[in-house]
Amino acid sequence: MKIRDFFKSKPSIHVLDDKEIDVALEATDESQDVAGSPKPSKKQKASEALKGPIGLDIGTANIVVAQNRGKDIRALRQLNAFFTIPYSNITKRTLLRDEVIFFEKDKKLYVLGYSAEGFANTFGGSTRKPIESGLLNPKENESISVIRAIISQFIQEPQKKDEKICFSVPGEPIDRPASVVFHESIIRMHLKSLGYSPIPINEGLAVILSELSSNNFTGIGISMGGGMCNVCFAYLSVPVITYSIQKGGDYIDSMVGSSIGESPTKVKEIKEEGLDLTVEPKDRVEIGLHVFYDDLFSSLVKSLQQVLGSSDNIPRLSMAVPIVLSGGTVIPRGSREKFEKALSDIRLPIRVSEIIIAQKPLYSTAKGALTMAMTEEKEI
Ligand SMILES: Nc1ncnc2c1ncn2[C@@H]1O[C@H](COP(=O)(O)OP(=O)(O)OP(=O)(O)O)[C@@H](O)[C@H]1O
Ligand SMILES: [Mg+2]
Repeated sequence: MKIRDFFKSKPSIHVLDDKEIDVALEATDESQDVAGSPKPSKKQKASEALKGPIGLDIGTANIVVAQNRGKDIRALRQLNAFFTIPYSNITKRTLLRDEVIFFEKDKKLYVLGYSAEGFANTFGGSTRKPIESGLLNPKENESISVIRAIISQFIQEPQKKDEKICFSVPGEPIDRPASVVFHESIIRMHLKSLGYSPIPINEGLAVILSELSSNNFTGIGISMGGGMCNVCFAYLSVPVITYSIQKGGDYIDSMVGSSIGESPTKVKEIKEEGLDLTVEPKDRVEIGLHVFYDDLFSSLVKSLQQVLGSSDNIPRLSMAVPIVLSGGTVIPRGSREKFEKALSDIRLPIRVSEIIIAQKPLYSTAKGALTMAMTEEKEI
């Protein structure tokens, strides 16, 4: 059976809205590592019905879990961030009562996810990140504890031993000396310790599995996230080329911020509130956003030209192939057109048929990972 046929009947992804996604479990058992109780809230009950293989996307900005519930694919998203506050019994009790997710260590309370953002805004600081530029942050000792705690909010012990869980990993960065090996191994070890059978998937390939089934999983998948852009060129679902550049939404925020003397957090807020790249910018922040979107797309297409142009692996294709763009950074209107314009300035060794924006840019990596986990589960 062809993989495409296997998924032909799959319904499209259903995403719970952000409020539902920010699940905080009711807590009664204070001895637990992460705040959260065995007593399920209404929202947790909904997630309990999720069954079978899992797709997991651990990104610089977000952690997304995709799983089947009945005929639907469900996705849950949490901010991949934390904020520490000093420990006191009263603070801990207040957090528990307020359904904030956190864990305690070394006389500190580590507040996680969206709640961390709330604390950072209130105290005028910034959240800290377990992942930086797509990889485990070497400057944060508690990176893996934070990721573990966020994941365990969504994923419990598997119902069946060695249940498949497919998790996204970035491609090797071409613009910085960093390696994905350590990052991948640590996450794999953790998922194994939970009783799952972990399978890594390149993030760009996951985008292709999610969005290009109608093109027999042939084309270029690009995930433009918070910390990096991941690129994969696949032929019939086989990754031919994979790589990443360590520039993404965070780069845009910080470059605009430093160019106009504004905080990156403020720039991000304005960007996410509804930036429209099809209309003329009307103030300094928007001018900056246009400039650095152009800069990011230009770096991205130049990297494509360089990597595809210097590779001996490119299959001789008679047909043109699609490029699918995904990740939170392509959400603003006009991203497709800006990318197309940047692409027209370079030459690639393959012909491009069309440029597509993923259906749900924040969720396609997790959906593609789930697709892989499900196919690995079945004998074909
Ligand atoms: N509505 C929006 N408009 C513009 N940008 C957005 C929007 N929503 C999210 N973003 C940006 O998308 C980025 C996060 O996207 P995504 O969740 O795909 O990244 P990630 O997978 O966590 O990171 P990475 O893949 O780089 O490790 C952030 O830079 C964020 O500011
Ligand atoms: Mg990503």
